[in-house]
Amino acid sequence: MKVYKILYIAMVLLKEKLKEIQTENIKKEVKVGIIGAGYVGLVTAAGLAYKGYNVLLVEKDKEKLKKIKQGICPFYEPDLQRYLLEGIESGRLSFRENISELVSECRYIFVCVGTPIKDDSTYDMYYLDIVAKEIANNLKNDFRIIIIRSTVPPGTGRWFKKAILRYRRGVKANFEVVSMPEFLREGNAIYDFFNPSRIIIGSDNYDIGKEVSELYSDFGAPILIVSLEEAEIIKLASNAFLAMRISFINSIANLAEVFDSNIENIRLGIGLDPRIGTEFLKAGIGFGGSCLPKDLSALISVFNNYQINPILFEAVKIINDERIDIFINKIKKALWNIKNKILTVWGVSFKANTDDIRESPALKIIPKLVQEGAFINVYDPKGLHNFQSYIQKNYPHFSNSIKLIENIYESTVNSSAILITNDWDEYKRVNYYNIYELMETPIIIDGRNIVNPLEMREIGFEYYSIGNNIK
Ligand code: UDX
Repeated sequence: MKVYKILYIAMVLLKEKLKEIQTENIKKEVKVGIIGAGYVGLVTAAGLAYKGYNVLLVEKDKEKLKKIKQGICPFYEPDLQRYLLEGIESGRLSFRENISELVSECRYIFVCVGTPIKDDSTYDMYYLDIVAKEIANNLKNDFRIIIIRSTVPPGTGRWFKKAILRYRRGVKANFEVVSMPEFLREGNAIYDFFNPSRIIIGSDNYDIGKEVSELYSDFGAPILIVSLEEAEIIKLASNAFLAMRISFINSIANLAEVFDSNIENIRLGIGLDPRIGTEFLKAGIGFGGSCLPKDLSALISVFNNYQINPILFEAVKIINDERIDIFINKIKKALWNIKNKILTVWGVSFKANTDDIRESPALKIIPKLVQEGAFINVYDPKGLHNFQSYIQKNYPHFSNSIKLIENIYESTVNSSAILITNDWDEYKRVNYYNIYELMETPIIIDGRNIVNPLEMREIGFEYYSIGNNIK
């Protein structure tokens, strides 16, 4: 009986293994093309290669591509470099010079090019149009599925399809366009890629949507196949909802300060309602980054474009913009005078675990403080090089007032206050007893509510945060 049982288990395991090998082999046969090696493109390329697909990547920026080919990630993203190298070494991630090669080789083509926002807050479709033309000029008889992953306004997938047909000038083309928004967070992109909350696939053709969903069948995430426009709206609405939560809690933090209350207690109290939850309800100096602010502004433009009232989203934006002055006023109130004082800013990237400084609150806060005569010591675990280029380009006349310092302790020497503007874990681990000794006046103004107020006050710091009244 026992022998039978062992034999049975061995057979089941063998069958599973054979199935696994078979799936691996099928995946190896599937060629996936990726256009654009930004956050989305590079993570998708390295991630799909790790999953066993044969991935081909095209990137038009030669310098960037050179780095990537050597296995060097052109920006800081935890673990990405490891997956990139793994893909290259395994031979599952390779590179092509141009889009025409992808079109001739790959059934699936992911479009991950940038869609920056223009001065009028609408998305710039320039790069997407170039890609549509390239694809149109190279489509042959083989059927191709073009999957748009760039963030775009509703209607883009349909425009993309139309653009391809126009460039074909009546010559028949065998292709379908699918919208597949990404929900990766910078700093957590690898984790999010392998553990997606959901896979959204927008297609006019359910069978095509189903076929694309097969690529993600072993990700363990719910898959929703919807229309092209529904997928595009889901993406913008998701980011707008997240932005709305942050502006919501920041508004409540303003009220909490009036009554000398702790916003963290209030967050917990609200969030214990399972319909609300505590996630994405951390008060601070507002949301930044390359997505939330841009997508919110673009959504407002889309609403205006269709004569729909965008008042909800405008309010979210106004509340977020106000966070900067609220923080500056907090600094002034705490310090009385900031002229000729050294202030230490911890945090130039828009959040922890990234070197991305786009739309980072610190970019607005630092110049305002310098204008009022303060000297700024800046520290950030990864964002200093990007910040240096930003200052050189936008505020060269401020360079004497801003010092970039690569050591967190050194950044506090003779400082009148530490201003915490992003949320790296390192700020929780430093020895505050040492820092207390190094500063001229031991004051901390924590824009991210990241360090422990009780500990700080016990050491002797004057500690101020968001959603707590200044005492
Ligand atoms: C966001 C979305 O989360 C992601 O799904 C989408 O694909 C891209 O945009 P990201 O821009 O990387 O990701 O940053 P996110 O982690 O969402 O944070 C955005 C901003 O909100 C940051 O400035 C962060 O500090 C701030 N934030 C976040 C808060 O102020 N409070 C919170 O509770 C959460």
